[in-house]
Amino acid sequence: MAAKLIKGTEISKQIREQITKEIEELKERHGVTPGLATILVGDDPGSKVYVGQKEKACGKLGIYSERTDLPANTSEQDVLALVAKCNENPNLHGILVQLPLPKHIDATRVIDAINPEKDVDCFHPANVGKLVIGTGRFLPCTPHGIMELLRRSGIDTAGKHAVVVGRSNIVGKPIANLMLQSPPGGNATVTLCHTGTKDLATYTRMADILIVAVGHPKTITGDMVKEGVVVIDVGVNRIGKTPEGKAILAGDVDFDSVQEKAAAITPVPGGVGPMTITMLMKNTVEAARATLA
Ligand code: GUN
Repeated sequence: MAAKLIKGTEISKQIREQITKEIEELKERHGVTPGLATILVGDDPGSKVYVGQKEKACGKLGIYSERTDLPANTSEQDVLALVAKCNENPNLHGILVQLPLPKHIDATRVIDAINPEKDVDCFHPANVGKLVIGTGRFLPCTPHGIMELLRRSGIDTAGKHAVVVGRSNIVGKPIANLMLQSPPGGNATVTLCHTGTKDLATYTRMADILIVAVGHPKTITGDMVKEGVVVIDVGVNRIGKTPEGKAILAGDVDFDSVQEKAAAITPVPGGVGPMTITMLMKNTVEAARATLA
């Protein structure tokens, strides 16, 4: 049985239409244009692509964006100074510092310096705390995107066993938290697996919903899942280049073998990726709206 494709590109389009209307209303009724600062340090090719996509999405939706590209040898102090400037700028409602940062910069210190009200990534400890309690204004973009993919695809998560593979601060830990929250959270029973997990397949085979964010291609293969599983593949791995020089992307899941058993699965590209950017736009609009109160 071939799995149903969960098409992030299409779902993302629906949400973007909604966001566009909200932006128009903010502009017309309140004279406020949502604004996003993006900060990229260094020349990681993947990060460059992501920041470019975020900037482009702002342009399409009518969000003001201010992008700063800094060389890899920029000091931590200079990055902190730029964040402070963005904190003070009333035209910027959201601040996004693209991760990873070069090794000589302490990412924790940079994230801590962002005004939590402009923390549209939801990485600041104050916002992470609120996420865990269930009282946050912002939800982190990729996990929020996953929740929307599940909800809008009609996948019931309540009482299901959700297995998350990967314990990153960006995806694994927050999505595990969202999946275990009472509604509108996932209301699921959650298992969180990571590099210290012994016999990963024992857990992945128990999953009704399997969310994989490990950053390694083909970590999950067909023999590691049960029939009827719903699979969310967060991985975006660059596994080569086309003759034209375009990156060839692969997820963390071996799509061909897993889709034979799955009820539904996200493709890579075109699954989780577009949702992350869309939820960033949504958070930026939320941050702008909050300044009206
Ligand atoms: N690097 C990978 N994903 C993300 C993200 O969602 N936000 C930021 N700031 N950096 C990232």
